[in-house]
Amino acid sequence: MTKPKIITTGGAGYIGSHTAVALQEAGFEVVLMDNLVNSSADVIHRIGRITGKEPLLELVDLCDEQATKNCFSKHSDAVGIIHFAALKAVGESVAQPTRYYRNNLVSMLHVLEAMHQHNIPNLIFSSSATVYGQPDVLPVTEQTPLQPAASPYGQTKQMNEVMIRDAVFAGELKRAISLRYFNPVGAHPTAIIGELPLGIPNNLMPFITQTAIGIRKELAVFGGDYDTIDGTAVRDYIHVMDLAEAHLGALQYQLNGSQSESYDVINLGTGLGSTVLEVIQSFEKVTGINLNYRIVDRRPGDVAAIYANVDKAARVLHWHTQRDLDEMTRSAWAWEKYARETLGL
Ligand code: NAD
Ligand code: UD1
Repeated sequence: MTKPKIITTGGAGYIGSHTAVALQEAGFEVVLMDNLVNSSADVIHRIGRITGKEPLLELVDLCDEQATKNCFSKHSDAVGIIHFAALKAVGESVAQPTRYYRNNLVSMLHVLEAMHQHNIPNLIFSSSATVYGQPDVLPVTEQTPLQPAASPYGQTKQMNEVMIRDAVFAGELKRAISLRYFNPVGAHPTAIIGELPLGIPNNLMPFITQTAIGIRKELAVFGGDYDTIDGTAVRDYIHVMDLAEAHLGALQYQLNGSQSESYDVINLGTGLGSTVLEVIQSFEKVTGINLNYRIVDRRPGDVAAIYANVDKAARVLHWHTQRDLDEMTRSAWAWEKYARETLGL
């Protein structure tokens, strides 16, 4: 029997590679479409080592209209698309807004056009908690009003959600779900795949692991005077494998006909907030390493606290997170060591 085919755009990246593993293990054929602007082709070999089968990687820039059309024509039998492809660095988007608008909006447009042309019915989109800004009430539900985006990156996520919603409402696309991720961290339990940011990391977890392994001298903790339990900022960290499994749940929800709203939005987090110091304490506990860190001024643009209400994900996807903060820090560290010491990255 042929396996149902899923296209993952941006599938060679951090979240896409973990989702490819979950999809293959659940019996899907996975085709990755990626231009490798922030990833590397060798990830398909490493996915193959975990699952026993390498997914197909189509090298395509989704901003190239003709190349995208050609690629989708080859895979028009796909039953669903997961659209991960995007540029995602908040600070860089402030410095290079037109590059971000072009990449994240034009690629989305081409994916929607291709899905319409080939009647591919199901779309799952990688949105972000960034669309909520600093909400007035915590935890945030899917009904929490969106705030004006704080960066061009955040704008593209809000605009992408609108593009998808309008395509669904006009009947150009049968159904779609925007998944609003909170703070994805951690790595596959084998440590064969994980997150590998280029250059100096912006995000907390890779900065912690790079400091511990000696690539960075010291972690700067941004702000010790927030109105939180220990003065440092609160986020909802979610293990990337839990996130990958949520994509599987969302896809099955679409494929088995359960999706009642043709356009839906779902938060993906744990529902728990952790402070920066709690993340550091977890890292130190599971690794036995004393992390070199110092509390400095707040980072401009940061919100004090945000975490998700995840009742909807539990209700409609029958999905619950399985992995706690210690598992996130442990797997992030195992990956950092494997990437540096074994893969030589
Ligand atoms: P990533 O950079 O590791 O993966 C994105 C992939 O998209 C990369 O492999 C990149 O090469 C590819 N890509 C970018 N532009 C492309 C284009 N024009 N054509 C083809 N491929 C292209 O990022 P990730 O962390 O895996 O994030 C995946 C998605 O989730 C992104 O849309 C991101 O905005 C969103 N998201 C990520 C986080 C996070 O913390 N990682 C949080 C919220 C939302
Ligand atoms: C950031 C983005 C968000 C994006 C997410 C995932 C901003 C304002 N938001 O979220 O849009 O979806 O990344 O890519 O950039 N921290 C330190 N020291 C560091 C790094 C971070 O103390 O070196 C702190 C931050 O102040 C924050 C927490 O750690 O309180 C998490 O930061 P980070 O991992 O960058 O994620 P967010 O800022 O939540």
